[in-house]
Amino acid sequence: MAIFVVQPSPPLIGEIEIGSSKNAVLPLIAASLLTGETMRIDRPPALSDVEMLCQVVESCGGRVWKEQDQLCIEAAELVSPTVEDAMRRMRASVLVMGPLLARTGRARVALPGGCAIGQRPIDLHLKGMSALGAQVTLHQGAVELSGTLRGAVVYLDTPSVGATENVMMAATLAKGATRIENAAKEPEIIDLANCLTMMGAHISGAGSSTIVVDGVEALQGTHYLPITDRIEAGTMACAAAITGGNLLLRGARADHLRALLFKLHESGVEVMDYPGGLRIRGRVHEPMEIRTMAYPGFPTDLQAPMMVLACTTPGTSVFMETVFENRYMHAGELRRMGANIRVEDRMAVVEGATALEGARVQCTDLRAGAALLLAGLAAHGETVVEDLPGHIDRGYEHVETKLRNVGALIERVEHPNASV
Ligand code: EPZ
Repeated sequence: MAIFVVQPSPPLIGEIEIGSSKNAVLPLIAASLLTGETMRIDRPPALSDVEMLCQVVESCGGRVWKEQDQLCIEAAELVSPTVEDAMRRMRASVLVMGPLLARTGRARVALPGGCAIGQRPIDLHLKGMSALGAQVTLHQGAVELSGTLRGAVVYLDTPSVGATENVMMAATLAKGATRIENAAKEPEIIDLANCLTMMGAHISGAGSSTIVVDGVEALQGTHYLPITDRIEAGTMACAAAITGGNLLLRGARADHLRALLFKLHESGVEVMDYPGGLRIRGRVHEPMEIRTMAYPGFPTDLQAPMMVLACTTPGTSVFMETVFENRYMHAGELRRMGANIRVEDRMAVVEGATALEGARVQCTDLRAGAALLLAGLAAHGETVVEDLPGHIDRGYEHVETKLRNVGALIERVEHPNASV
């Protein structure tokens, strides 16, 4: 838990090193349960979600350790395959379900409670496991799965990222071929498929809406360097545009951020793609229209940072959040900073102005928290961002240090009750 104090800041200028992708590393950690050999993940990001999923892997009998800049996991003997308590704390724990089931024939997973951005059910994950032959039973708020997995055709009603990852991992050890229809196409899906292939899996079509997996007897350990975090890069790109700065985002990949980069360019920001990263320069001059969609559409995880950009751009901007049913929690906090935002169900209309007013605001979820930090950079007066649940540290590595190194006036004040 932390409190961030943000002062009005000059244009951000300099370089930011983009870390490994949280949403790529979490499924890679889950995939380590598919083999009894060692999985080595290079440059793991220092994020609390990564630490928490490692604790889940340890609770399943895995051994986790660090060697220089590598996260090492060895799940030789799996025990008590259950992630019941962890599921309540972090939804991504559900990603161990497929690997546990494929490796041990059993898994017990708590039904996730809702979270700030929506109910986020796991029905598509369970539909996939059931299609692969698992017995799925509900028992005291948890789901128990058991059975030997056999290849099947799995149709995902929604191109769910997590369900695609869970089914793909489970299918690697199923008997026969599995076809996943209407699969998610995010870069993190491709990264997971690449790693599973290095472990000996037979996968084709990752990145398209149809993925085919031919099951094998066993998978081997591997050594893998994850892709960089497109959402961290996108958040920092918004920070550059909000302050009218000039940032080189080292390691960022333009091919993972096309929707954002097009919208920034349409609104007047200069985007330059270098071999080693992305340069973002200048301010937004035009209001925007943003519709969040599954990849390659505009990412829902960048809706909040983009809304801050809209708040500080004169004119009427319109947002349509089509992925999650309650992802405008930051609007209320931005209103406390003087923003003019009208939310009606999945739509938000922003009447932008030249600046916001500093205020004391609360973090409601990970990406909203980051957006509030960005809002403080462009506000008149001091902004205090209270992040008692520690949302920001779940997904942004050393966020205040990275921003301060390019000129942001931001301090982290550990909350007096912070756990040591
Ligand atoms: C992943 O979450 C990301 N998390 C999220 O990032 C991201 O916002 C989301 O994909 C969408 O891109 C990780 O990768 C760890 P979904 P996930 O399943 O897999 C519905 C962040 O800030 N759905 O693609 O949970 C669901 O309710 C986080 O880093 C079902 O109905 O997302 C949602 O409306 C936030 N049934 C939609 O699909 C299911 O069984 C997309 O969810 C599963 C999902």
